[in-house]
Amino acid sequence: MSKVVRVGIVGGGIFGQWHLKAFTQLQNEGKAELVAIADLIEEKRNQAAKDFGVKPYADYREMIEKENLDAITVVTPDSLHTNIAVTGLEMGCHVLCEKPMATTMEDCRKIKNASDKRPNQILMVDFHKRLDMYHVELERSIREGELGDIQYGYAYMEDKIVVSRDWFKSWPAGSSPFWFIGVHFVDLIRWVIKSNGKKVFATGRREKLKSLGLDFWDNITAQIVFENGATFTVDGGWTLPDGFEAIVNQGIRIIGTEGIFEIDSQDRGAGACLKGKTQQSYNLGVYSEKHTPDGKIQYGGYGIESIMEFAYHVNHVLNGGTIADLKGLYADAEDGIEDSKICIAAHMSAEAGGTVIDLDTL
Ligand SMILES: NC(=O)c1ccc[n+]([C@@H]2O[C@H](COP(=O)([O-])OP(=O)(O)OC[C@H]3O[C@@H](n4cnc5c(N)ncnc54)[C@H](O)[C@@H]3O)[C@@H](O)[C@H]2O)c1
Repeated sequence: MSKVVRVGIVGGGIFGQWHLKAFTQLQNEGKAELVAIADLIEEKRNQAAKDFGVKPYADYREMIEKENLDAITVVTPDSLHTNIAVTGLEMGCHVLCEKPMATTMEDCRKIKNASDKRPNQILMVDFHKRLDMYHVELERSIREGELGDIQYGYAYMEDKIVVSRDWFKSWPAGSSPFWFIGVHFVDLIRWVIKSNGKKVFATGRREKLKSLGLDFWDNITAQIVFENGATFTVDGGWTLPDGFEAIVNQGIRIIGTEGIFEIDSQDRGAGACLKGKTQQSYNLGVYSEKHTPDGKIQYGGYGIESIMEFAYHVNHVLNGGTIADLKGLYADAEDGIEDSKICIAAHMSAEAGGTVIDLDTL
């Protein structure tokens, strides 16, 4: 019988629930063992233990050691991934790190060095936009030359203000709309055009959230020049009004010498206005639940599938496959560092009021 990954989750907050659900789904299918959760907050780890039948730990190191885990997933706030990812690798685990991999070059290099030293362990960054079927088709059409040479493009990702105003009160400094969501499209652009960033110019505003006593950027808009000559503008913001019809507004358009590809990732054609609520739109592409005849819930969508892919990759290695076989199938530490580099430059440029940052200097 083939081996399946024994996994523990570090961070049982909002997105930790998605990890717990993805591995529950895999466990139901016999493709993973969801063993434990580590969270600093007792209430959160105990709740996860109750809801998902896992063992709760306060200390992720103790969890790895006692449970003899093959893998951990890191689902802590953006600026708190590094020590956990590095320690996880050092303790022999495969690691899935939530995006962004890290928010400073120093932290990125620590993770990349730890990963480079362990060529038989996976370090994957969870950039799930790569699994959205519309983006899969975008990547294919560019790879097969149907857009010609990529010239320029535009992407936007904006959260409703509930995210920045209400969800992140407990977060330490170190995140921003560009880190929390802009980075998704930075990674997607790099992945579809197969080029790294070269220069970045960015500006942003800090007014709306400041007026609410929160010291976060409202938005950052970055213009990124890539090594292949293409230029992209990326907007990251998180102050859309409470009445907006979805938690996230997002989309991308790319123009090449032979074609154009435009995707509205928010409006997928489904809307409803239900009792006591305002108009809502739905992106069932990212997350879905189906009730199966055996009384279980089947979780799906690209947000879940991306976490599942990590388990498939680990299972491949546990059963004698190599990391080399998996090259290019997931965002690795090299991708993590190149994505973060663009975001670090965007913040540096915006802080300085719009200077041009050459990425070779970082
Ligand atoms: N892939 C996506 O689309 C997506 C969506 C949402 C969030 N995320 C990412 O997931 C990560 C977590 O976001 P969230 O919204 O769940 O945050 P959250 O604040 O809801 O949860 C974070 C949890 O981590 C715990 N934690 C912090 N340090 C810890 C430590 N050393 N050991 C154990 N637990 C620790 C906290 O107690 C908290 O429960 C972030 O990096 C975020 O960017 C990704």
